[in-house]
Amino acid sequence: MFGPYERSAEVYDLLYEEMLDYDAAAEQVAGLIRDRNPEAHTLLEVASGTGAYLTRLARHFDVVGLDRSSHMLKAARRKLPDVEMVEADMAAFDLGRGFDAVVCLFSSIAYVETIEKLRATIACFARHLNPGGVAIVEPWFSSDQWDEGYVGVLSARTADMAAVRASTSSRTDAGRVTMRFAFAVAYPDGTVDTFTEEHPTGQFTVEDHLGAFRDTGLEVQHDPHGLIGRGLYIAVKQP
Ligand SMILES: C[S@@+](CC[C@H](N)C(=O)[O-])C[C@H]1O[C@@H](n2cnc3c(N)ncnc32)[C@H](O)[C@@H]1O
Repeated sequence: MFGPYERSAEVYDLLYEEMLDYDAAAEQVAGLIRDRNPEAHTLLEVASGTGAYLTRLARHFDVVGLDRSSHMLKAARRKLPDVEMVEADMAAFDLGRGFDAVVCLFSSIAYVETIEKLRATIACFARHLNPGGVAIVEPWFSSDQWDEGYVGVLSARTADMAAVRASTSSRTDAGRVTMRFAFAVAYPDGTVDTFTEEHPTGQFTVEDHLGAFRDTGLEVQHDPHGLIGRGLYIAVKQP
């Protein structure tokens, strides 16, 4: 059993570029930032993964990526060799400078697991915002939206590779969810790789998120639909 993205970084883009319209979602994110801060030109993506959003957001902003996974950062650096990529934990980083926007997308915030770390993470985002800066956080499902016992499958193929991800999960009363994924990756030379990963996450309510933003003094709005139906928090630091 591997940890989060240790092996699946290699098939991340294949599987998720199929699932998510990153072009459309990134345009929406850029629009939300510009609506609130028309002069915004620097952006930090926290939990930037393989750089799927960053490549698109770089059309609008000077971008920096941050992620705790060296495997995901390696994939991102291949795509964006001139962009600064920082290996760090989103709950405790200090880049020593502010940005006009800090974004954390595709439910990556769930990996902080606990409410204490959620608060520390949002405080960290707030500290990295310039006056007038905009923070955007796309949450994961809360416990009342959770489909207990759901098992899922994703698959995608190119001429060079076919990949499948089967998923299940288990939840504790304390709002912790462990996602378990089994991957199979087939190559044209007749070989198949199989591996499993465990991803520990946490579930937070709308009030948990709003409280964490308000504690930092940011002005926050909640859009229940957001980019892909998971909701979105949009917060502004007063100029
Ligand atoms: C679902 S992926 C999203 C990647 C990218 N934002 C996207 O939309 O394609 C979640 C990312 O969160 C990162 N991550 C998880 N926990 C983290 C932490 N504590 N600090 C920084 N990054 C973290 C993972 O390594 C992974 O790259």
